[in-house]
Order: sequence, then structure tokens, then C-alpha cells
Amino acid sequence: MDLNKRPAWLLPVLSAAVALVLGAVLVAAQLNARQDGGGAPAPMRVSGDAQIGGPFTLVNQDGETVTDEDFRGKAMLIYFGFTYCPDICPTSLQVMKAALDQLPENDRAAFQPLLISVDPERDTPELLAQYVESPSFPDDLVGLTGSAEQVREAARAYRVFYTRVEDDGVSSEYTVDHSSLIFLMGPDGAFADVFPHATTPDQMAARLQRFLEDNPVQS
Ligand code: NI
Repeated sequence: MDLNKRPAWLLPVLSAAVALVLGAVLVAAQLNARQDGGGAPAPMRVSGDAQIGGPFTLVNQDGETVTDEDFRGKAMLIYFGFTYCPDICPTSLQVMKAALDQLPENDRAAFQPLLISVDPERDTPELLAQYVESPSFPDDLVGLTGSAEQVREAARAYRVFYTRVEDDGVSSEYTVDHSSLIFLMGPDGAFADVFPHATTPDQMAARLQRFLEDNPVQS
């Protein structure tokens, strides 16, 4: 099979499938929480120990090692992608920016947008540093990369799928198929929401606003 000619609809369909499964388990988690009858919302658990998110250790665009704890106090908006991605990743980061730009400045400052590379082999800190400067992307976007193992661990924590796809004939070139989801993690690092690829800026802005109403910024 010529992987170059794999159908263009495949990745969105895969992403949608992942989102559907994720949505289903989250709905199940909420139903369970409701059945528990407690007034306080139960922690978002997808099933048993399968929580979304968790510790990560990565390298930022300045070449510094950072962990998830370095971002505590801000709500993280996390997208897994890579700089060579022709369309899926740029689109998602543009949606993220458009949603954040709808918020009042104070509210916008509550969020820390993060791009975690699923292509650490090519996405050096230097390359990420250039990429995150794009005016199409969120102003304070931070790019994170790391060793293959560090990236694998981070993706595993978020249940993010990614796989390298070779381009036929040109051994030095490849692409990376990956889930296209934006995760919202609270200022404590706990999972709060997830936005599938088809989410519009208006929808995301509304949900970010609602998140802030439920979790007022402390300043
Ligand atoms: Ni991509």
C-alpha cells in the first residue's frame, strides 16, 4: 500500500473515533458520578486507573527541561502535534488561538497553551522556538519536545495515539499520524475537558468561559 496515497479522510476519521470513545467514557464517568449522589463533582476518571493526564518531563523551546508542575496555577491547553504537519496541527492551533482571543485579557491569561511534539526526532527546541512564534498560533504558545521516551510517556499519559508513517522512496522523509485533541487541564493539573478536532472557536471559547466560572482565577 502506498502510504503517501492513504486517503485524506483517514486521520480525521481516526481522530473522531478516538474522540467518540473518549466522549463515551467521560459521559459514563459523569453518569457514575451522578449516581454517587454527591453534591461535589467527582474527579474525572475515565475508568479505574485510566485517568487522562499526569506527570510529564519534557524540554521546552529554550532547551530547558520542564515538568507539568512548572505550569501549575494556570490551566493548560495541551495539543500533541508536530511542526512538519501540513494542516491538522496548524488548524488546531489556529482554533485554539481564535478561542482564546474571544476571552477578555484577564481570562485569557488563565490559560497556558502547550504544543507537545510527537516528532521529537525533527522537532528540536530551536525549530519549536520558530514555530510557536507564528502569528496564527496562541501568543504565549510553549513548544515542548524531548527524548523519544519522554514524548512517549507524555502521550501515554494523555492516551494520545501517534505513529510514524514512512514516505515511499525517500528514506529521510516521513510524516506522523496522530490524534487531534485539545486537552484542558485545571490549574492543579487535573483533567477538565477535551476538545475534538471539529470543535469551533466559538464552542471552545464558551467552554473555556464556563470552566473559568466554575474555577475562578485566583489573583
Ligand atoms: Ni498534525
